Amino acid sequence: MHKIAVIPGDGIGPEVIEQGMSALKKSGAPLEFSIYPWGGAHYLKTGEILPENALEELKRHAAIYLGAIGDPRVAPGVLERGIVGVLRWDLDLYVNLRPVKLYNERYSPLKDITPRDLDILVVRENTEDLYTGPSGFIKKNTDDEVALGTAFYTRKGVERIIRYAFGQARRRRKKLTLCDKANAVQAQELWRRVFSQVGAEYADVEREVIYVDACAMALVRRPRDFDVIVTTNLFGDILTDLGAELCGGMGLAPSGNFQPEKFGMFEPIHGSAPKYAGTGKANPLGAILAGSMMLDFLGEEKAAGKIEGAVARVLERGELKSLGTDAGVTTAQIGEMVLREL
Ligand code: IPM
Ligand code: MG
Repeated sequence: MHKIAVIPGDGIGPEVIEQGMSALKKSGAPLEFSIYPWGGAHYLKTGEILPENALEELKRHAAIYLGAIGDPRVAPGVLERGIVGVLRWDLDLYVNLRPVKLYNERYSPLKDITPRDLDILVVRENTEDLYTGPSGFIKKNTDDEVALGTAFYTRKGVERIIRYAFGQARRRRKKLTLCDKANAVQAQELWRRVFSQVGAEYADVEREVIYVDACAMALVRRPRDFDVIVTTNLFGDILTDLGAELCGGMGLAPSGNFQPEKFGMFEPIHGSAPKYAGTGKANPLGAILAGSMMLDFLGEEKAAGKIEGAVARVLERGELKSLGTDAGVTTAQIGEMVLREL
């Protein structure tokens, strides 16, 4: 029995997680859920972002299943950094794995593309960079204000993510692209050095480096040239929104944050989309696929494959008008389509 800590969160989070949990239950994997109320409403009611023992409590589980965090009534970043951030950083979940996979060309804004042309795995570093570097303000709210943020990369942090990415490339089409901005950001030279050093141990994997601006262009122009991409925290954040859109929209994209073979948190990459909360317009497929990634991580590959297969068949049939909020069917109806396939 795998114990799963569920944090439905804010906005559309609870709605998509409900569908995700139904799919997980139907997959036949032995799971036991405990639900945690953390998020905007809980914060506004109690003043508590996360209880003191939250991390210990969560670590008693095999994995975390998260909906979305973010509430327009709370200043931007308080909850995002205080919950999603803390879980990623304090639990040291250094891999952020984000598949960019096209299931049906009718949903892609690209022309002349087939699912064979767009199947990329983005390996995003998840604990360093501008997200967690020292930051702050000097002379706040004056004309002389200075805002500071620091991008930093540690040798260990860069090496472990690059090593993980090479391992993934070896299991796929054996090509790894390092995406950085080493021509402008001097510190990223470290990524280049580690990439060639670790790469020497993976002689069977083809290596390529690309600057992030060119990468954004190439993802649109020639996505078929990519297999696995490894990149920094911030660039990974940006490129995977682009990637999601190329596959039909944010509603479809899942992600896993984890330490390989240890502990992880699985979530759709979309946010809480407060404007759509309660309207039944949110697409739960990203959350459902995140559940499939979680099962795979827990060693339940068969159940994981069942869920992904069910989603793939729903998408292949092309019954949804779009993968966005104008799909023509409700969150619950999309969930039911997946359950029927299961
Ligand atoms: C994501 C989100 C987060 C990020 C936010 C909510 C802090 O955009 O998971 O991609 O920037 O990583
Ligand atoms: Mg993002």
